[in-house]
Amino acid sequence: MPNIRLPSHVAFIMDGNGRWAKKRGLPRIYGHAEGVKSAERIIQTAKELGIKYLTFYAFSTENWKRPEEEVNFLMELLRWYLREKIPSFVEDDIRISFIGRRDRIPQETLKWMERAEKETARCGSLWVFVAVDYGGRDELVRAVNRIISEKKRKVDEKLIRRYLDLPLEVPDPDLLIRTAGEKRVSNFLLWYLSYTEFYFADVLWPDFGKEEFLKALQDFSKRVRKFGGLFPDEEENS
Ligand code: FPP
Repeated sequence: MPNIRLPSHVAFIMDGNGRWAKKRGLPRIYGHAEGVKSAERIIQTAKELGIKYLTFYAFSTENWKRPEEEVNFLMELLRWYLREKIPSFVEDDIRISFIGRRDRIPQETLKWMERAEKETARCGSLWVFVAVDYGGRDELVRAVNRIISEKKRKVDEKLIRRYLDLPLEVPDPDLLIRTAGEKRVSNFLLWYLSYTEFYFADVLWPDFGKEEFLKALQDFSKRVRKFGGLFPDEEENS
């Protein structure tokens, strides 16, 4: 895309899978299976464009409240997907990492998550984070507990950031995209969203494709980011 200012890190709340399935008279899990294809399209497009980091909200700390069958399906889907896709991630030079808790994830799923991290560790064109059993508040609580256990007597922003899930070298998301018309943060990436631009799309996640993504990027490109300062023309005139 000519003349477009690209974000370096884009985060996604992939909402609307259940509604997509319901509209078709299918069980909700079909929506999740279709949702994975959308995530794949976004990953490929981001790589083509040269975006460096993506973070997907796949399963929240609150999602355990869903019916057991749906929870099991999501964990199986992740395992199956990783088992299938690790070689193509390596081939495409895409690194995969996970953020969130690891103590409640089924053993077999966790095994493939760790394998994906290990096998793609040297890949560097695009770094994809998948948030699984992730909650922004939970992440902060885990960080604070580690800080306490290391007997630190004083904290500042830099120190807290070191104990969070995303590696230090990963910049805060420039853009957060949420689909399906919902306009909430839902406990996602709380620390990192301080100056993130939000984009809300009405389409359901399984219908969110390359065109929709490009539309969001074009919209982002037009925004003037002040980070608490002034607009550039205000600075000139002051
Ligand atoms: C929200 O839609 C979606 C989720 C809670 C799960 C998202 C997970 C995936 C797309 C699969 C992730 C797997 C991999 C391999 C990345 P919803 O179920 O809340 O939809 P609704 O609001 O229409 O009910």
